[in-house]
Amino acid sequence: MAPDDEVCLCFHVTKRKITNFIRVEKVRRAGQLADCYGAGTGCGWCRPYLQQIFAETVRGETAKHDDPSPEHYAELRQRYLDSG
Ligand code: FES
Repeated sequence: MAPDDEVCLCFHVTKRKITNFIRVEKVRRAGQLADCYGAGTGCGWCRPYLQQIFAETVRGETAKHDDPSPEHYAELRQRYLDSG
């Protein structure tokens, strides 16, 4: 996922906004990312990705799997929404 790709599609929050927020605000828990333009507080689809970005940024962990393309990410979210 590129820095300017949206991670939270509900509130149009990009990966860059999230990583900058983590660094500037010295975020200690992934749940605090809700204060970054409401990331993760809509449908909830992006929460695992927010946690992954938090772990990568704060703890230097690497992703366990490749990020989906922005198009595939949006498609997966739509399926999540359609499933209720
Ligand atoms: S995509 Fe982030 S809350 Fe819906």
